[in-house]
Amino acid sequence: MRRTIVAANWKMNGSVDLVRDLVGGVNSGLATLENAVEVVIIPPALFFRDVQARVEIDRIALGVQNVSQWQAGAYTGELSARMVRDLGGAYVLVGHSERRQLFGEDDSVVAAKLAQVLASGLTAILCVGETLAEREAGAAQQVVSAQIRTALAAVQGDSWNQIVIAYEPVWAIGTGKTATADDAQAMHQMMRGLLAELDAPAEQISLLYGGSVKPDNAAALFAQPDIDGGLIGGASLVAEDFVSICQSA
Ligand code: PGA
Repeated sequence: MRRTIVAANWKMNGSVDLVRDLVGGVNSGLATLENAVEVVIIPPALFFRDVQARVEIDRIALGVQNVSQWQAGAYTGELSARMVRDLGGAYVLVGHSERRQLFGEDDSVVAAKLAQVLASGLTAILCVGETLAEREAGAAQQVVSAQIRTALAAVQGDSWNQIVIAYEPVWAIGTGKTATADDAQAMHQMMRGLLAELDAPAEQISLLYGGSVKPDNAAALFAQPDIDGGLIGGASLVAEDFVSICQSA
């Protein structure tokens, strides 16, 4: 059985006060949750320890939004996958579209970061997705499939257990526009087929949807057979909304 996961990508938001209020709200909201969803909080790395100290719910794991493509050394300003592991983190976002678009991370950087994450024993949440222009040109599946093929080319054997993929259409991130449940399912079905082609244990790999997931659209998305949860940006900053999304999973 593959895991159902709802992950909170706080992006570059938050403060010491917000960490206290948000994690407090999530703790109390999830205390009585009855489904089997695994919840991941991915705060800015500076708040990692603070979030960790405040989390009171066993099902909550922690992650970071980015790591270096190198293992260690003279890379001022960078954080390594090993450090995340050392601190008890479990997940790392790799290839988020904001990293690809704003920080010039190309497929080779994404693959190098993924390799660091796997080598450190962490789970990568590989983010893929097409732009609006690519979707309108009818190339959405082709783009997503190329991103997956290049990022995962070197993955084999048990390392597949350390892979989660998040399909996040770029035009849906932070825009209030969401892929329809049918369109998202079609992409997820293609991704699962592709994973089987790559000799991955496709039925075991969790495939998340991200892009303007909110309390009012989460249930329809999560009801799709190949959608195993979500990667939540904006709505993860409001405890009530995030808890409601976790309840829909
Ligand atoms: P959003 O962000 O929910 O604010 O659209 C999702 C993401 O970028 O992971």
